[in-house]
Amino acid sequence: MAIAIIVPGRDVSTLKQHLETQLKGSAAVWVYPDIPNPAAVELAVVWKHPSGSLQEFPNLRVVHSLGAGVEHLLKDPLMPEGLQLCRIVDPELAKGMCHYAAMAVLNIHKQWWQLQAQQEQKIWAEPVPEVIPLKIGVLGMGELGVPVAKTLHYLGFEVVGYSRKAKIVEGIPVFSAEEMDLPAFAEKVNALVCVLPLTPQTDGVLNKSVFKAMPHGSYVINMARGAHVVDKDLLEALDEGQIERAVLDVFHVEPLPTEHPFWYHDKVTLTPHIASLTNQENAAAIIAENYHRMKKGEALRFPVNASAGY
Ligand code: GLV
Repeated sequence: MAIAIIVPGRDVSTLKQHLETQLKGSAAVWVYPDIPNPAAVELAVVWKHPSGSLQEFPNLRVVHSLGAGVEHLLKDPLMPEGLQLCRIVDPELAKGMCHYAAMAVLNIHKQWWQLQAQQEQKIWAEPVPEVIPLKIGVLGMGELGVPVAKTLHYLGFEVVGYSRKAKIVEGIPVFSAEEMDLPAFAEKVNALVCVLPLTPQTDGVLNKSVFKAMPHGSYVINMARGAHVVDKDLLEALDEGQIERAVLDVFHVEPLPTEHPFWYHDKVTLTPHIASLTNQENAAAIIAENYHRMKKGEALRFPVNASAGY
């Protein structure tokens, strides 16, 4: 019996090693496309797998995303039917998101870019940059959004959350998509932090109508998926000053093509999809546990709700 790792273009040797350690010989671990016996593969660990590749395994039962996001799985038109999908839910992954959100928010709040420009010009403190008051809206109040919202709240910011369904989170008012559309929520805040899953409902949600609803000179931080943002609308909002700065970790096309205007815009700070990286050892422990659960016919951890899209 075997597990196939299908993660094109990335070195997966550390993951393979951790999986082998965790599985203690109970399953072979093969790296696609080097699969000696496709019929032996019962579980696949995937990240941006080639569409159709999962059809090569006639006895496949479980597909495990190597990250928190699963849109790469749900979008595959050649996904075999009847497979159980799972994802990684790991406090380490959430911690990375909290750190990134805190970094972006604190840099904005303290006017870090202004301070850096002053250092370059050997200006001591004239003018003294004022702190920017922020009321932050966290979009997506799930496994990642809740810890992000709580971290920002702990840092002393006023934080409100927005989620698909109504929910109660201690200390953070949460508005649901059922009671209010996103522009109405965006009116209430001057900074948005996006940690939404990418689904047909959230594709392109950060668009003109949302930017317009926010107060002039607002902030956008996207650490979810590039497709949440309508790039053209964001560029326009930045040029008009409607959005004062965007901090972006994710893009429609990654790596971001060198000709993309985000690279050159002085109000965009971008990072190469590093907000939080899957901890390979923790991921291997979750996947190995789910492999054993699958073999024993037990319920798997962190199943994906395909109709919700995460
Ligand atoms: C990273 O982007 C993930 O979905 O884990």
